[in-house]
Amino acid sequence: MMNILFYSTFKNNKQWLKYIKKRFYKDNIYTLSQNPDYGNIDIAIVWNLPDRILRKLINIKVIFSLGAGVDHIINLPSFNDIKVPVIRIKDKNMAERMCSHVHSQILNYQLKIYSFYAAQNKKKWIGEQYTKLNCDITIGLLGFGFLGKSVGVYLKKLNYNVIAFKKSNREKSILKIPLYTDKNLKKLVINSDIIISILPGTKETKNFINKKFLENMKKNALLVNVGRGITLNEEDLINHLHKNKNFYASLDVFNTEPLPKTSKLWKHRNITITPHVAAITDLSSAIDYIFNRYKRFKKTGTIRGDVNYRKGY
Ligand code: GLV
Repeated sequence: MMNILFYSTFKNNKQWLKYIKKRFYKDNIYTLSQNPDYGNIDIAIVWNLPDRILRKLINIKVIFSLGAGVDHIINLPSFNDIKVPVIRIKDKNMAERMCSHVHSQILNYQLKIYSFYAAQNKKKWIGEQYTKLNCDITIGLLGFGFLGKSVGVYLKKLNYNVIAFKKSNREKSILKIPLYTDKNLKKLVINSDIIISILPGTKETKNFINKKFLENMKKNALLVNVGRGITLNEEDLINHLHKNKNFYASLDVFNTEPLPKTSKLWKHRNITITPHVAAITDLSSAIDYIFNRYKRFKKTGTIRGDVNYRKGY
């Protein structure tokens, strides 16, 4: 029997707890409200766990992230003292949601749905607007890990021209999607009609999309950020939009979440804002995924983390 701590900031937290208790019925599941003996916790299943709790988990053996990202764990100051394996969710249901979200944003832009919304507001019949076919659109993906690849394959199968930037030399191409690295990133940026960022939040990706990056993009491009907020310099984006009236951005992640009411991003007519929902974690399949990895850990006594701490993802 293991002692498991569950913590999340999800709105449907209660439902998560119910599912976890059902799946891990042989184990003890604790939440903060029970004020458990933190020194006896073996496993943590968490999303946005506060550092003051992590600090107390001195006998923790493995941490499961309830999302694809692990920055909410490994950036905590106390993680340095703990450094146990961290497991992330890699799940096809999450990937499906990410693909649908990204495609919806592409279509809004590609089919000029923005203009129709604006026209409808003014009761204006603007008539047909010429639109590009998928094969005439080049999509540059930033990030080519599990989710990046899923999105790449999805879009490629729909006939878009997909090109991708990857940092790590672990990632191999798939469906002949051309891969770019730091050396020729500029070429990808210049050639893309749409850029989709699925980059993780690390020291190296902070402000990755900045003034210079934006200036290299096409004047009437679309930028979609579904990775992490810190990868985009929001001030640079606002200034860029000021100068480029036909540039669009669809943002799902932000420097500060929830996005503060004072942010200039809210009201910009060329920005679509969604509240960090592009790839929400699927309850049932995520818990199955965690449970299967946990089962192997219980059987073998070891578990290999998914995260390279030096790289930060
Ligand atoms: C969401 O942002 C996730 O990391 O799953």
